[in-house]
Amino acid sequence: MDSTHDGYITDVAYIDNYYEQLSPLAINYLAALNGHLPRNPDDFDYCELGCGNGLSLVVHAATHPGGRFTGIDVIPDHIARARGLADAAGLTNLALYADSIADWVARDDGQKFDFIAMHGLYTWVSDAVRADIHRFIERRLKPGGLVLVSYNAKPGFSAREPLRNIMRRFATPLSTNPLERAHLGLSYLRLMLNAQVPFFRLNPELAKYAESLFDKDPHYIAHEFFHDDWHIFGVDEVAGAMQNSGLAFAGTLPLWQNHADIDVPANVSGLFNAQTERVTREVHKDFLYNTVFRTDLYVAAPADAAPLPRTETLAAMCFRAAVPATDVQFAPLAGANQLSLNTPLHRTVFALLQDQARTFADLAAQPALAGHGRDDLVAALTQWVLSGQVRPTLPAPLPPSHPVIAATNRALLAEAFAAGDRDGALLLSPCYGSAFWFDKTQALALAVLADPAAGEAGATLAELMKHCGLSMEEDGRALDEEALANLAMDLSDDLEASGALTQARLLGVVG
Ligand SMILES: C[S@@+](CC[C@H](N)C(=O)[O-])C[C@H]1O[C@@H](n2cnc3c(N)ncnc32)[C@H](O)[C@@H]1O
Repeated sequence: MDSTHDGYITDVAYIDNYYEQLSPLAINYLAALNGHLPRNPDDFDYCELGCGNGLSLVVHAATHPGGRFTGIDVIPDHIARARGLADAAGLTNLALYADSIADWVARDDGQKFDFIAMHGLYTWVSDAVRADIHRFIERRLKPGGLVLVSYNAKPGFSAREPLRNIMRRFATPLSTNPLERAHLGLSYLRLMLNAQVPFFRLNPELAKYAESLFDKDPHYIAHEFFHDDWHIFGVDEVAGAMQNSGLAFAGTLPLWQNHADIDVPANVSGLFNAQTERVTREVHKDFLYNTVFRTDLYVAAPADAAPLPRTETLAAMCFRAAVPATDVQFAPLAGANQLSLNTPLHRTVFALLQDQARTFADLAAQPALAGHGRDDLVAALTQWVLSGQVRPTLPAPLPPSHPVIAATNRALLAEAFAAGDRDGALLLSPCYGSAFWFDKTQALALAVLADPAAGEAGATLAELMKHCGLSMEEDGRALDEEALANLAMDLSDDLEASGALTQARLLGVVG
């Protein structure tokens, strides 16, 4: 028999995922890019609703020491796993609750948040739970606070609705077990795909999407399609609901969709530029691009509040070049239109951010940029960020060797090796307030390099391998000191040769 909470399956765990877009730093940049003041990175409260196994929260709590983090999820096993990881990392700024959102709506403890984030929640819950999400926001978001929400979007996902419906119609009467239902639903699709039925012949894009589902984890299939609720929203519908909760639309992902000079192709830009209301522009873009999924930002502000100048909202945010000068790509930026980074202004901005992080205000005050207008400077900087070659950074990041970072990396590594079916391991990037995936063995070697307590490399490796539950035997014999030292050297050589070390340095994972 399956168990549910308000129609949401609670007896099947969701897959492990990390989402950089939920990082307070990333949310702050998205807000500032759209003319909204970022929250104070040194002192803030952050809540993730439906936080699942807590991977994102653990990464963000470890890398944002100025934040106090809260995670809420109704599945106790999810919270138990998140807690296990947070405890192993020794995090003191993360509180986790195996509660429903309704529990928090009913509780009147006065706790309020600068950030409320939710990923993979809004579409899959009942109207009643969505109403609780809105009540939670209304009661617990600070003035000027930011909400990041993602959902299956119109019009792109609407076309996929028949696939969900037919899988459920077929599988639900045959089993009460959500994972079995997922397998049964997929087997039905396989039959229809192989038979090349008219539905798939006439809808080749849906056939492609259906094929892609066979590569997914059954736990994902169960959570995507087999809850009672699955609501596909237009951005205007979500914006309307948020407006009723006192929030205004404040931006969207991917980042290029916030750059009005490249977010639509030139042949239709005239039509779009006549459209000044942002949410309406977003609705048109969703039609243009057949959007299937949206991640949007809202701010606690009246819907008609005018955005502030970017020069003001970006002023205190820090930026740094994320590639060496020798590797810079000046090619026109991808987007619906093309923008070049190969101008004297772009080159000067990049050079000034090459060896040190600077706030926008500091950058703008540099003599090398005298004579350039502030708006041009904002455009050049944000275009660099769009290209991924300059990144927002935290103003005072912990060093990669900091005990909290090292302990969290160890916990993430142990978790990755314990999850036998996962190829990669996450390692923290304290300066970018996030984490990046590495091959597990390379992650182990990087953790040896980054370990602050590192003495002799072989001994550090042995200690980490033990921590991760890895065998230290070869041909049935325990590796001795010399063998461990050689292994550490081989791993280190492989890091250099494969480019993983350079990559890890660029990403701020090792110093
Ligand atoms: C699809 S998972 C997404 C997990 C994670 N945010 C991610 O994207 O990987 C949705 C999560 O929301 C939680 N959830 C669903 N309904 C909830 C409710 N009413 N209160 C609290 N959590 C809920 C589920 O337990 C589940 O972990």
